[in-house]
Amino acid sequence: MFSSNLDFNPDELPYYNPIKDRKVALITGGNSGIGFYTVLHLYLHGFIVYIAGRNFNKVSQAIKKLKIEANRRRSLIVENDLNSRFLGELKFIEIDLLNLLNVEKSTKIFKQLESNLNLLILNAGVGALPFGITSDGFEIQFQTNFISNFLLTQRLLPIINNGGRIIYISSIAHRLEFFQFDRNWNFNLKPNIIFTWFRYAMAKSSGIQYMKLLSIKYPNILCYSLHPGFIMNTNFFAYWTRIPFFGIFFWFFFQIFGWFFGCSNEEGSFVTLNCSLNKKIYKNGSYFTTGGKLINSSRISNDLNYATDTWIWTIKELEKRGFKNLD
Ligand SMILES: NC(=O)c1ccc[n+]([C@@H]2O[C@H](COP(=O)([O-])OP(=O)(O)OC[C@H]3O[C@@H](n4cnc5c(N)ncnc54)[C@H](OP(=O)(O)O)[C@@H]3O)[C@@H](O)[C@H]2O)c1
Repeated sequence: MFSSNLDFNPDELPYYNPIKDRKVALITGGNSGIGFYTVLHLYLHGFIVYIAGRNFNKVSQAIKKLKIEANRRRSLIVENDLNSRFLGELKFIEIDLLNLLNVEKSTKIFKQLESNLNLLILNAGVGALPFGITSDGFEIQFQTNFISNFLLTQRLLPIINNGGRIIYISSIAHRLEFFQFDRNWNFNLKPNIIFTWFRYAMAKSSGIQYMKLLSIKYPNILCYSLHPGFIMNTNFFAYWTRIPFFGIFFWFFFQIFGWFFGCSNEEGSFVTLNCSLNKKIYKNGSYFTTGGKLINSSRISNDLNYATDTWIWTIKELEKRGFKNLD
């Protein structure tokens, strides 16, 4: 149904019946980029998908497009296959990762709606932004890519049962944390074009550490992290491409880079889909790269002592802000 340069076919992943099996997924940032295609395939595979986003209109637009695209693809399938493939459901839930109280409130709402969560995909993220501090007092990238994911996950863990999965979208850039960064550092240094990547790396490396520790603490829940690939046509690079005048040069650079090293938005979703749906079980806490290939993440992100320090630091910082009972 979908032709790709990668050795991966989403049609080979299991299909579920939304009524009999009722597989529930929550994905952050499912309205654009890689997340959009992750949602599309989960929907085609029969999942009840909650798209967690900060903007109702954007998510509603995405849901409309997802339904049209899903029906178009189903119209190309032979009738025999359609009998065993059911469309799931698409729902909106408000979560703004830049607001911890909102994250907490959303988890309460979600737990009133659903008593079981099969799949949590921590996909939303920002990168390469100028330095900024959120109203919660964290650096913007660190909060969006890590702190809020931590809070969201800790609050949803009680409804993720045995066999559930938590997938964290990290980045190859986590390797830029090449020695132990103090979690109190916010790298408010110039030039931004360099230090923004250290801020991003610290967040994405912390996320991998978090998945590794979760996999030890909750061995019956599969916790994976991954690098999706270089996908240059998502909104991820919008800050740079929208800079007046110079933006066009960045856009050209990203296109050329993408042409040589990148993959499409849909191919970028494959590793997430593989981690989310593949019946083949890999070692819990593993890290994957483009197309679903198992590889090692950085030495720093694999250091369990350091990961424990990050965990304790995060709990303390959240407690200072009034978020209790997290461990
Ligand atoms: N593109 C790449 O080459 C690449 C490479 C490595 C890793 N990644 C990672 O892949 C993930 C997806 O990125 P993408 O490339 O698909 O970029 P994208 O198109 O910009 O998608 C990011 C998603 O995150 C959401 N988001 C951002 N801030 C949020 C917030 N405060 N609260 C709630 N949602 C928020 C965005 O929602 P809005 O639409 O409301 O902004 C959007 O849906 C990110 O974690 C990124 O770090 C991407």
